[in-house]
Amino acid sequence: MTTAPVRPAVSLDLTPAILGGPKAVTLDQAEANRWPIIDADDEASVMRVLRSGELSSGHLPKAMGGYPCPHPEILALECEFAEWMGGAKVGLPVMDVGDLVPQLAGKGFKLAPNVLACNNGTAAILCGLFALGIKPGDEVIVPSTTWWSSVLTVLHVGGVPVFAETDTKTLALDAADVARKITGKTKAVIVTHLFGVPADMDALMDICTARGIKVMEDASHAHGATYNGKPIGLIGDIAVFSLQANKLLPSAEGGFLVGKDPEMILQGAALGQYERLVPLKAIDHPMARFAATGFGYKFRMSPLSAAVARSQMKKTAARTAQRTANCRRLSARLEKLGFDTFMSESGSGTQRVYFEFLVRYDAAKFKTPIKAVAKALQAEGCDVTAPRYPLLHQQPVFTEGAWLDLARLHHDPMASARVYDPADLPKTTAGNGTLLKLPSFPSASDELLDQYAAAFEKVMGNLERLPQA
Ligand SMILES: Cc1ncc(COP(=O)(O)O)c(C=O)c1O
Repeated sequence: MTTAPVRPAVSLDLTPAILGGPKAVTLDQAEANRWPIIDADDEASVMRVLRSGELSSGHLPKAMGGYPCPHPEILALECEFAEWMGGAKVGLPVMDVGDLVPQLAGKGFKLAPNVLACNNGTAAILCGLFALGIKPGDEVIVPSTTWWSSVLTVLHVGGVPVFAETDTKTLALDAADVARKITGKTKAVIVTHLFGVPADMDALMDICTARGIKVMEDASHAHGATYNGKPIGLIGDIAVFSLQANKLLPSAEGGFLVGKDPEMILQGAALGQYERLVPLKAIDHPMARFAATGFGYKFRMSPLSAAVARSQMKKTAARTAQRTANCRRLSARLEKLGFDTFMSESGSGTQRVYFEFLVRYDAAKFKTPIKAVAKALQAEGCDVTAPRYPLLHQQPVFTEGAWLDLARLHHDPMASARVYDPADLPKTTAGNGTLLKLPSFPSASDELLDQYAAAFEKVMGNLERLPQA
């Protein structure tokens, strides 16, 4: 005998919970929102590396030439990520090590020369800036709405971050404002695909390519997203991905530097992974002369992190698809209520992913403050907040001048004269106050999503009755 699925009771009382009505969301949310999802495959993968006793990158065994070399787990991860992104057809080939270093031919190692694993995404950004050749005093145009790593790393190569407005539609850099901020000192633009929504890359690339300005994509939120049919991360000159544990491809901390030019990736590797330069002696590569030292940092990934990332990657596409389906189901209901959910047009070549799920609430249109709506939704049982993204151009590290010490640019009259004004970027500041953050529902049931939709419908249908706090 089959039993019918248990359906949550639906209350007919539409009084908002904040006014004493029943809660709309009654189902448990802990499992629906658990991330990362760790299973027996992850455990086996970690144990395989742990039991090998090879816990650090180092040398190939003597029988294989003894060359300093990244750990095989890391080389394998880089190859698998290259394939995951689309492989040779998107410009990320996987080759035998012997194709590049004849002395290693036939040893069975494959490598992906366009992908560099790092210990985290922050380090990958620093390596990317080094690879792009950003020098003291160079200006780098950046968004104020991003994680600090995409901006503060610029200071550590002596660069000067120049903030540009955020576009209301894409949540990423506003191309027209980028064009306005370009000076003779602009060397690069860093664009973050915030929360997984692709930036307007055509407009940005048109502006930058014409002026010889390099573009770094911070794709830390956007594994698997596409823009006009192209994978996010392969449109600019170089890109980074974070593999930090809450990301769409999680590991125990990690990052990737990715680019179409393998020489640029090698340059990035030189900053913090000297062992990558040693095998180049065999082919008289000019970078091999730095093999004894690299350029002073140690940024390589732990093989244990690589083991987690390899087993997670096998499930990333399916898990991302599930998140997307869940967020789209709820978005369709919220769009009808007047929210902008940043949903990608179905079937188009531009497809966002949902690292995080934020929606725009227009307080002017609805004549009720966003905080009142957030409070009413929380009372319904929704895990919803009205976060104010800490806008980077307003942070003390910039407004109080510490940035100049970090960049060591006191001798530079132009840099010393620069003032970061918290009142700059009015469009970004206004837009920042209109976002509501929801869970990104990695494993939510349709019933839970429908309860969320019902909560929003109830609250939006009673706006004038809500406490206007
Ligand atoms: C947009 C963005 N860029 C860069 C990073 C830095 O990555 P990680 O935490 O791996 O250093 C993060 C992450 O946390 C991020 O959200």
